[in-house]
Amino acid sequence: MERHNETPATRMHAVSHETEEIVDLVLDYSRRRILSSDTPLDKPMAEPELRRLAGSSILDNGIGAKRALALFEHVLAPACITTDHPQYLSFIPTAPTKAATAFDLVVSASAVYGGSWLEGSGAVYAENEVLSWLAKEFGLPETAGGVFVQGGTLGNLSALVAARDHARATLTDAGAELPARWKIVCSAEAHSSIASAARVMDVDVVPVTPAEGGMLSGANVRPALEEHGAAVFAVVATAGSTNFGIVDDIATIAALRPEFTFWLHVDGAYGLAGMLSPLARHRFAGVEHADSVIVDPHKWLFAPFDACALIYRDPEAGRRAHTQHAEYLDTLTETAEWSPSDYAAHLTRRARGLPLWFSLATYGENAYREAVSASLRLTQRIAAEIESREGFRLVRQPQLSVVVFERDGWDRADYSAWSARLLDEQRAFVTPSSHAGRPNTRFAILNPMTTFEQLVGILDTMV
Ligand SMILES: Cc1ncc(COP(=O)(O)O)c(C=O)c1O
Repeated sequence: MERHNETPATRMHAVSHETEEIVDLVLDYSRRRILSSDTPLDKPMAEPELRRLAGSSILDNGIGAKRALALFEHVLAPACITTDHPQYLSFIPTAPTKAATAFDLVVSASAVYGGSWLEGSGAVYAENEVLSWLAKEFGLPETAGGVFVQGGTLGNLSALVAARDHARATLTDAGAELPARWKIVCSAEAHSSIASAARVMDVDVVPVTPAEGGMLSGANVRPALEEHGAAVFAVVATAGSTNFGIVDDIATIAALRPEFTFWLHVDGAYGLAGMLSPLARHRFAGVEHADSVIVDPHKWLFAPFDACALIYRDPEAGRRAHTQHAEYLDTLTETAEWSPSDYAAHLTRRARGLPLWFSLATYGENAYREAVSASLRLTQRIAAEIESREGFRLVRQPQLSVVVFERDGWDRADYSAWSARLLDEQRAFVTPSSHAGRPNTRFAILNPMTTFEQLVGILDTMV
């Protein structure tokens, strides 16, 4: 390839033999990794060990792409757990489709700016098509819309900021006094990101104990609304709790609305994708009444890190709360065009909804429904197996794709030693957890490549 005006200053950007070689190396590695079916689970390495093996790689004149990539492939990557491994069953796993992972490369290669319509209209159009598809699936009106943000934590924060803004404007317009402290009502089992949002916003959380079984209902929420009145600007319903995959009773919470004024936010970061399956759809009744919802494509919608779909019933409420104003931005903000930056606490953004768009466009929505249904079926099957085993106890009947269980007589140290051994032997990544002070462990199942036999094999190690 011809060298174009290459100087020391343009060496890293010009198209040259050197840059061509670098791109080939990286694409070749990516191809091998994406299409590999035997990438090991891998495990973390201690910092001194990494220092010994990796040393310093940032030097005056570089070490070259070949050495840097070899360092990544043979030292750094093996010190990162393979989160898309079928036996990664901890926390909430990730399991991106091949199309979504591959297209993530395209998003980078295309240098798309996803913040404004002016700069990224094509990308924004495609992202919005996905958001509209999700909104329709959740029963929200056609006018609903939003933005893909980095993760559920930022999605929850952005939605709650819009909720408070809305409450403040409503009370001010009515000439009413503003509360001394704003409050969010949510389940005591809500995700920690709700408390994190409250800290950032300097508002209070009113945690409500859910009913036996973990579901928060309107009856649980009512006393909190009676006690705290207009200070409550939002009620958060969880559509798939992280620890158990329990879906709150959204319909009865929404039904409190004629009597009390609040913004209903549904945190479906993990679980709301379950609505795609006819096996679980009924559990989410009432989500159609939400003022805002989130769902993370990097969880059960099979997209790579990092993406959260944040959808507002009335996107204007999100825009009013979040649009940044500055002289240099006036050209973007003083138009009616849809600029994703305006709908959350961010400005510059990657068009992170595109990998999901490409994968959905490639395979079609039915493939997603089938993949989600497969997790639900496998969860029920392994839950029945656990229940039937002597010395095992299901902590709760699973609703979605998380199954939590105890081994009789095991204390925290037993679970920790067992979990470390599983990872050491590269068999599985299953971490200890607990509920109500009792130690347990859990399988979070959302990778369609996970099999019943693999899970049974893990249970067999709990001797
Ligand atoms: C219910 C729920 N909400 C919010 C979050 C936070 O999402 P993220 O990790 O993408 O910030 C999680 C993460 O697991 C979650 O399960």
